[in-house]
Amino acid sequence: MVDITNHANPATGQSSSALTGTIRVPGDKSISHRSLMLGGLAAGTTRVTGLLEGDDVLATGRAMQALGALVRKDADTWIVEGTGNGCLLEASSPLDFGNAGTGCRLMMGLAGTYDMETAFTGDTSLSRRPMGRVLDPLRRMGVQVTSAEGDRLPVKLHGPRTANPVTYRVPVPSAQVKSAILLAGLNTPGITTVIEPVMTRDHTEKMLTGFGAELDIELDEDGARVIRLQGQGNLHGRDISVPGDPSSAAFPLVAALIVPGSDITIENVLMNPARTGVILTLQEMGGDIEILNWRDAGGEDVADLHVRASTLKGVTVPADRAPSMIDEYPVLAVAASFAEGETLMTGLEELRVKESDRLSAVARGLASNGVDCSEGEAYLRVHGKPDGKGLGGATVATHLDHRIAMSFLVMGFAAEKPVTIDDAAMIATSFPEFMDLMTGIGAEISINDADNRN
Ligand code: S3P
Repeated sequence: MVDITNHANPATGQSSSALTGTIRVPGDKSISHRSLMLGGLAAGTTRVTGLLEGDDVLATGRAMQALGALVRKDADTWIVEGTGNGCLLEASSPLDFGNAGTGCRLMMGLAGTYDMETAFTGDTSLSRRPMGRVLDPLRRMGVQVTSAEGDRLPVKLHGPRTANPVTYRVPVPSAQVKSAILLAGLNTPGITTVIEPVMTRDHTEKMLTGFGAELDIELDEDGARVIRLQGQGNLHGRDISVPGDPSSAAFPLVAALIVPGSDITIENVLMNPARTGVILTLQEMGGDIEILNWRDAGGEDVADLHVRASTLKGVTVPADRAPSMIDEYPVLAVAASFAEGETLMTGLEELRVKESDRLSAVARGLASNGVDCSEGEAYLRVHGKPDGKGLGGATVATHLDHRIAMSFLVMGFAAEKPVTIDDAAMIATSFPEFMDLMTGIGAEISINDADNRN
C-alpha cells in the first residue's frame, strides 16, 4: 500500500504498458458534501453509502458535527442524525475546511443566516481563494461578515435575528455560489430566488427536493434558470447511494486513452449532463469510450465506461461547455498533449480561482515537459505529439492542487520520459485510492518519499 495521506511526497509517473482491468472510482465529491450537509440538517436519519472518504468531505462531516449533527460510520454506511431545519447549534471553535472550497462555501450559506457566530478557516490554498462571491449575497440576506482583506479566509459570520429572502442573479457560473444561497434560504422566511444564466451542476436542487424542500425551477424568457426555494420547510432524512465521481473517473479514462493497448472499464460513473462535458469532448477527439448500462440510481443517472486506447485528434472545446467539465481541463490538456494537431480550450476564466491558478499551473507544467502550448487570460492552446516522443522529464509544481498532481502523473504514463510532481499529498483530498487504483491497472508510479531517501 502506498501511503499518500500523511506527508508531502514527490511522486513520478513513468512510461507504462497497456492498462487493463475493471475499476470503480470513489463517490462523487459534490454529492458527498451535500449528503452530509443536508443529512446533518434534516430531521431523522440519513444513511449514505458510497461516500467519498477524502479529506475534503471528512472536513464537512466534522463541521456538521460541530453544528450539532451526529455523524458516524457503521460498516460501509455513514449514518447522519440531523438537527432539523433551523436548529443548527453554535460551533464552539472555528470550522476548518482544509483545502475544500465546496465544503467551505456551501457551509457559509448553510450556517451563515443563523443568529450565532460561525468562524471559517482553511489551508494556504483555500485562504487565497475569493469568498466575496458567497459573502456578498449573504450580506444582502442580513449576515454580518468579518473577514481578512479582499474577503478571504479567515471569515466570521453572524446571522440576523430573521434573515431576508433575496432574489440573486449569480454573476459567475458557479454551483458553489448558487448552492450557498439556496442553503441560506433554508433558514430564511419566504421565498429565496436564485437566477442562474448559465446552468451549473444541479445536485443541490435535486437533493433539496429529495430531502423534502419545496423548490421549483423554470426558465425565464432569456433561458436563465430561475430557482425558487420556500424557506423554513421541513427536511426529512433519507437513504443516499453516492455514484462514482466523473471528475475522478477522468484520470483513469484519459490514462487509458493515451497509453497504447489499454482497455479498461470504469463502473458506476455519475452521468449527470451537467458533469459529462469531458466525456463528450474526448469522444469528439476520437476517444473510444463506450457508455454501457445507463441506469437511474436514486435520482441520478449512472453508467459504466468501457475505454480503449485511441488515436486522438485536436479539437476546439466551446466556451459554453466549461461549466460541465470545469474540473477536468487539467487532465484534458494532458490528453491534448498526445493528440494530433491543436486543441483550443476557451472560456477558462474560472480556472484561475480553483485550488490553484489551474490555467497557469497546467501551462507551465506542460511547457516544462516539452509540450508546445500557449496560455491566454481565459484560454489554453495545446499542440500535441501523438507518440509522446520528447515529452516528460521535468518536475511539476502542484501548488496544493490535487487535480494538477493527478493530471501530471497521468502524463508520465504515456510520455517518453518520466514526469515528477513535487507533492502527491493533496491527492487525498478527493481521490485517496488514486495510487493503488492506478497501479492496480498497470500504471507505473514511484513514490520519491523524502523519508526513504538517503
Ligand atoms: C462544485 C462546484 C465547482 C467545482 C467544484 C465542486 C460543487 O466549483 O469546481 O469542484 O460541488 O458545487 P464552482 O462553483 O466554483 O465552479
